[in-house]
Formats: sequence, C-alpha cells, structure tokens
Amino acid sequence: MQIVRTVGELRHWSREARRGGRSVGLVPTMGALHDGHLSLVRAARAACDAVAVSIFVNPTQFGPNEDFALYPRTFEADCALLADTGVDVVFAPAPVEMYPAGSATFVDVEGLSGRLDGASRPGHFRGVATVVARLFIAAEPDRAFFGQKDAAQVAVLRRMTADLGLPVEVVVCPIVREADGLAMSSRNRYLSAEERGQALALSRALEAAQALYGGGERRAAKLVEAARRVFAGEPEVRVDYIAAVDWATLEPVELAGPGTLFAVAAYVGNTRLIDNCIL
Ligand code: PAJ
Repeated sequence: MQIVRTVGELRHWSREARRGGRSVGLVPTMGALHDGHLSLVRAARAACDAVAVSIFVNPTQFGPNEDFALYPRTFEADCALLADTGVDVVFAPAPVEMYPAGSATFVDVEGLSGRLDGASRPGHFRGVATVVARLFIAAEPDRAFFGQKDAAQVAVLRRMTADLGLPVEVVVCPIVREADGLAMSSRNRYLSAEERGQALALSRALEAAQALYGGGERRAAKLVEAARRVFAGEPEVRVDYIAAVDWATLEPVELAGPGTLFAVAAYVGNTRLIDNCIL
C-alpha cells in the first residue's frame, strides 16, 4: 500500500491505473477509521479494480466552535486497517495541498446545504462539497463511496455531482452499527460510559418511527412524535432535529412513503450524533 501526500501523485496513480484498463474507486474519509469506513472500502474493493482512500480532517467543514482541533487523528492505526483491507493508495494531504495559499473558490449547493445538519452547522456542507469536489478532480475516480449514515451529505454530494457534471458515480453504502444499534461514528469515542448508554436514544427513536410506519402510519408528524417520545425518556440527550424528508431535496414531507428519509440529530453531552433510516 502506497501513501501519497500530493494531488500530483494521486492523479498520476489514478491515471496509470486507468491506462492499464483498471477502474478506480475512491473512499473519502477524515480518518479515525472504524468498521463503517471499512465497509465502504470493501464495497469499493468489490466494485473497482484499484482503490484509493483519502484521510483528511477538512478544516472548512468545521464551525469555529466545533471539534476540529479535538477530532481524533489515528493515522498509523488507520493505515494498518487499510493495508489489511486491500487498499492500493492512501491519500493524506497537508491542508495547503487541498487549499493552496490564496485559495478562494468554494462549492455551495444552495438550498440543500441549509437543511438538516446544514441548518445547525452553517457552512458545514459548503466545506464538504468543496473538499469532495477537490478530491474528485484530484483522483478522477470512476466511483466514489459514501455512507448512508451521513444521509444529508449524500444528498448534497449527489446534487453537486449532477450539477457540475462530474464523471463520478456516487455509491451509497448501508449504515454499520454496533451490536446494540448505535451507528458507528468516529465521534463515539468522545462518549463517557454513561453517555454511551444515553446515545442509544437515537437508534431507538428511529426504531419507534419505523415500527409505527410498519403499522401503517404515514403522517410524518405522528412518526416524529413517536421518535420524540423516545428522546423524552432520555432527558440528558438534547434533540437537534427529528425530520421526515425527501432524500433528494431534504424538504420535509407531510406524508411518509417508501424512500422517505427519517433522520435524527442530538447532543449527548457535548457530542453531536446523527442517525437515520430510509422508510
Ligand atoms: P467521515 O466522517 O470520516 O466519514 C467518511 C465516510 O464514512 C462517509 O461517507 C460516512 O458516511 C461513512 N461512514 C461513517 N460512519 C459510517 C457508518 N456507521 N456506516 C457506514 N458508513 C459510515 O463524512 C466525512 O468523513 C467527511 O464529511 C468527508 C466526506 C470525508 C469530507 O471531508
């Protein structure tokens, strides 16, 4: 497994692979890898001949009072996991490589970027769209792999890819969970033992909404109410949003149907967690 630091090296590798007739898969990450990330790598491995994983804690997607400085950085352990999973190249750029001095160009997906997580994290999706566009242009992948875990991010990136006509297929992979239902996240390591228990409110809230939907309820307000009742039983957890939305537009729906995205975000202590399901 090769580790490269510059866009030039990454592009050279990618072009060599494609010249040899091999398809290229890209898995963008911020590191602190867990089984959720590795499931994307395995999907890339299965669908593509050559696989690159980027590890870059992207400063532009963090707000001024967010956890950029604190975000876990476990590069050596990440590389060991990626080598075991059969990755060809790890792209680990310095910030100046992604944002050259004087950098002034951003990708803003209007409308979508202000919904769900974008409403509580102003500028977050602008940073995500900008860095992913930059990664697509650098790596020139045939396919790029993202997790449904960050469902609003997927909506923003699908829109961006379509709008800019980027020749990349966006592939979305299912949410990987701990045995008790908690969605895997690099931020779970911030949780104390007590908070780890409280965090189950998110997946349980989704289960409650899904059960109601399974019983025939279609009114979004009722599904949201069922989820809110679960959170009410865990008063230490502060809800950010509970929403039933169209996955493409992130606009709220009044009536849920197949394909409706049901998403929650909540603070457990100081840690903001998200989770969702597709009804
Ligand atoms: P990061 O949080 O490191 O996540 C990298 C990818 O792993 C994302 O596509 C995310 O949805 C996926 N992922 C995380 N937890 C998952 C889980 N439990 N199951 C399945 N997939 C999971 O998302 C980002 O980084 C950044 O915003 C990035 C796209 C790299 C841009 O900086």
